[in-house]
Amino acid sequence: MAETTWDKLTNDFNTGTWGHTFCQIPLMEAKFKKFAEERGDAPWKVLDVGCGMGKHTLRVLKAGADYVLAFDVSKSMVDGTKMAVDEFLHSEARQGSAKVDCVVASATNCSSIPGAQEGTFDLALCVYVMCNLQSKEEVKQTFVEVFKMLKPGGKLFVYETHPIKYMSWDDKPDIPLLTSIGWADPKEDGTRWGYFEDEGKPREFTMMMNSGREIKFPTRNYSLSSWVSWIVGAGFHITELKEPYVNPKDVPADAPEWTKYGAGKPMGICWECTKPLSH
Ligand SMILES: C[S@@+](CC[C@H](N)C(=O)[O-])C[C@H]1O[C@@H](n2cnc3c(N)ncnc32)[C@H](O)[C@@H]1O
Repeated sequence: MAETTWDKLTNDFNTGTWGHTFCQIPLMEAKFKKFAEERGDAPWKVLDVGCGMGKHTLRVLKAGADYVLAFDVSKSMVDGTKMAVDEFLHSEARQGSAKVDCVVASATNCSSIPGAQEGTFDLALCVYVMCNLQSKEEVKQTFVEVFKMLKPGGKLFVYETHPIKYMSWDDKPDIPLLTSIGWADPKEDGTRWGYFEDEGKPREFTMMMNSGREIKFPTRNYSLSSWVSWIVGAGFHITELKEPYVNPKDVPADAPEWTKYGAGKPMGICWECTKPLSH
């Protein structure tokens, strides 16, 4: 596959972002723990869609997953995941107890990954990947593909940009579309975007990494109605919806000043989607 924007962002990506550290990671870890508890002693298989540098691959392994198929369209990201996983699996604690395959593949046709069998995964993860796909059609297709890969009763956790991040915050009109991980550019004339106004169109997003460096990439926003239509249209039931946010009281004194504006507003939206048993 051709080099992607993400191939150039791997070093910075490993450092994480302030908002992820305080908001996304605790939520996802709690969901993985609950999922593992519900499984009891039964083995479980995970599909990590758009795994990046393996942030969540490692966390499901720590939670007790027996097998993970981690894939991403960026070869550099897949290599990063593979290195992290090899190190983890060779640590004394997990030697020989879990298996991970790391492959270069696209979310839009993951059911074609050689060796990956449809209807065999207990859990699929898709964290900040849908907003990086190239079109609405690709997002819709990804839900359909992931649905095929899950067992009946299997779950998909999707973590995405919150739809209200379409707009700037009313109390900070001078700051364009600020979140607790970064910001997106305003319209060319400097005014704010309205809800629905640029749905699905690429917009440059600047993300501030904990390393202090800014990384830039195009991202797309979708309305709540689009998300629900795609999820339900693929056949899923929505079994939980969370709007994680950073409580302003929890903002560390040494956090960058701009992150304080994003605190107290939803940072993301996390859908738990279940493939019905009767499917
Ligand atoms: C913001 S990163 C998130 C990575 C990881 N899920 C995490 O939470 O750390 C987005 C990832 O989506 C990947 N990506 C973009 N388009 C993709 C596609 N069509 N199929 C699979 N991965 C894709 C990028 O290469 C990048 O690694």
